[in-house]
Amino acid sequence: MKFPVESVRIVEVGPRDGLQNEKVTIPTEVKVNFITALSDAGLRTIEAGAFVSPKWVPQMADTAEVYRDIPKDPGVDYPVLVPNAKGLDRALEAGVRSIAIFTAASETFNKRNINMTIDESFQNFAAIVPRALGEGMKVRGYVSCSFGCPYEGEVLPEKVLEVTARLLDLGCYQVSIGDTIGVGTPLQVQGVIGILLQVVPHGRLAMHFHDTRGTALANTLAALEMGIATYDASAGGLGGCPYAPGASGNLATEDLVYLLDGMGIESGVDLKRLVAASSIIGPFLDHPLPGKYLQACTHGSASFGTHTSVQ
Ligand code: HMG
Ligand code: MG
Repeated sequence: MKFPVESVRIVEVGPRDGLQNEKVTIPTEVKVNFITALSDAGLRTIEAGAFVSPKWVPQMADTAEVYRDIPKDPGVDYPVLVPNAKGLDRALEAGVRSIAIFTAASETFNKRNINMTIDESFQNFAAIVPRALGEGMKVRGYVSCSFGCPYEGEVLPEKVLEVTARLLDLGCYQVSIGDTIGVGTPLQVQGVIGILLQVVPHGRLAMHFHDTRGTALANTLAALEMGIATYDASAGGLGGCPYAPGASGNLATEDLVYLLDGMGIESGVDLKRLVAASSIIGPFLDHPLPGKYLQACTHGSASFGTHTSVQ
């Protein structure tokens, strides 16, 4: 069976979404080596950190140093998260070329995550996005809790559409639809995407699945069937949002690449090199990385795990 998608762009979020929730402090140099190894693996978009309050998210406090020290590959985009004007000032000072702004389809989550209502977040973005675009930056948007909220429960797809449309109207080149707490299931995912596609072109949507309940890869397949071609993922399955109780790792990049390789869908990412990148960060954590492909490698069954000839 041929899928509507022939190639996929992966947005690697491990160094940001992955590390922001870790309890142990990761040395700046290790983050830089991790990001460098991810670009060596063929990833062309790597979220390098977040200019958020260091009191709220201590793990991202060294983003300026990380960004400074990355040996920049001219073919790689290194976006950072920016929540407000102060974050944009810090990004501009660091010489960042690409930012991501983030809000939610749930009021309570947004308040807990960035201390703003959804409307307040848009008032804030209205001040920073034109400035960022004027400086020649690329701006991406995130909609958290698109499939359910840890505080409010059900989230209406119409709300996801409304917030997505507002982000696009502001000038975001793409909006990433986040399953922040990993509650979505494939038919629900197709339902939400179906509503979004009535208004938004495929290319301006990305999917951001967390694997909290083991549905991230199934949800990815469901989204591929709908023609979505950009996926956020984190090496080794690192991840979670500190303001989303119970949120665990993102879809593991290795698991995504394994799936895509097996289906003959181009991603440009080399699985072996990706495993090498995850192996840089793994020893610095206080828990094993949850990614399934990575675990299969660790347990010695990797020889079964690469697709050499896909028809
Ligand atoms: P606030 O406390 O309301 O902010 O936080 P404030 O403006 O009152 O400032 C309080 C203090 O923070 C002040 O310092 C400011 O200077 C400082 P003080 O006077 O107390 O010393 N401050 C900053 N410092 C550095 N950088 C900044 C900054 N802004 C203020 N940019 C704020 C509001 C937005 C700052 C805070 O809530 C925040 O930083 N939140 C970020 C939370 C976060 O990073 N969450 C994780 C990322 S989102 C996510 O993971 C979901 C996603 O992956 C998609 C998905 O899964 O769905 C994207
Ligand atoms: Mg996330």
